[in-house]
Amino acid sequence: MKFFVDTADLEEIREAESMGILDGVTTNPSLMRKAGNVNFHEHIYRICELVDGDVSAEVTAVDYAGIMEQARQLAPIHKNVVVKVPLIPDGVKALKTCSEEGIRTNCTLCFSSTQALIAAKAGANYISPFIGRLDDISSNGMELIEQIVRIYRQYGFATEVLAASIRHPMHVVEAALIGADVATMPLGVIEKLLHHPLTDIGLERFLADWRAYEAASVTP
Ligand code: G3P
Repeated sequence: MKFFVDTADLEEIREAESMGILDGVTTNPSLMRKAGNVNFHEHIYRICELVDGDVSAEVTAVDYAGIMEQARQLAPIHKNVVVKVPLIPDGVKALKTCSEEGIRTNCTLCFSSTQALIAAKAGANYISPFIGRLDDISSNGMELIEQIVRIYRQYGFATEVLAASIRHPMHVVEAALIGADVATMPLGVIEKLLHHPLTDIGLERFLADWRAYEAASVTP
């Protein structure tokens, strides 16, 4: 399973990258807003230079011509750029054109398996089902991941399932068990994946015993 960090914050990306387990980055307009007053294209370039992996940069146009214009501007910024396109009718048309032009895409704001099927047929490289936002409205986000993985495998679609809107480690565990290709998550969730209280307690005991052993050792 690939791990992407879901942020546009350079410090957070550097921190995730320093762990040695980062495979890519996803951004969106809300995350760009949080990053502050930065030039969008320059910022995406800087992110791409930090990570050896795919970096999603989202279009903000909602009409076919506008989406394509932005996609053609974003894609040449860096070889790592994947253009994020919303799952709306004009977005689907743009996915198809992007695929024909060799522009890689991440189809975002997916909330149903029928949407995911259409995105795959249009040639999206990634599909981003938003687990947490479905859970927020008393739907089952993980069921959607399960359906999409099953449908894509059944028909041999190459589109990678990118589990998004991940809120906690159990989302990652369940998405991994189902076989999602990628999980994108905030840095805080990546950090939580690593921590276990028994590891901390165990290490504390080992170190205390080692100190006692050293204190009791006869030096030659
Ligand atoms: O990758 C999509 C993600 O940023 C959405 O997450 O927590 O805003 O639902 P969230």
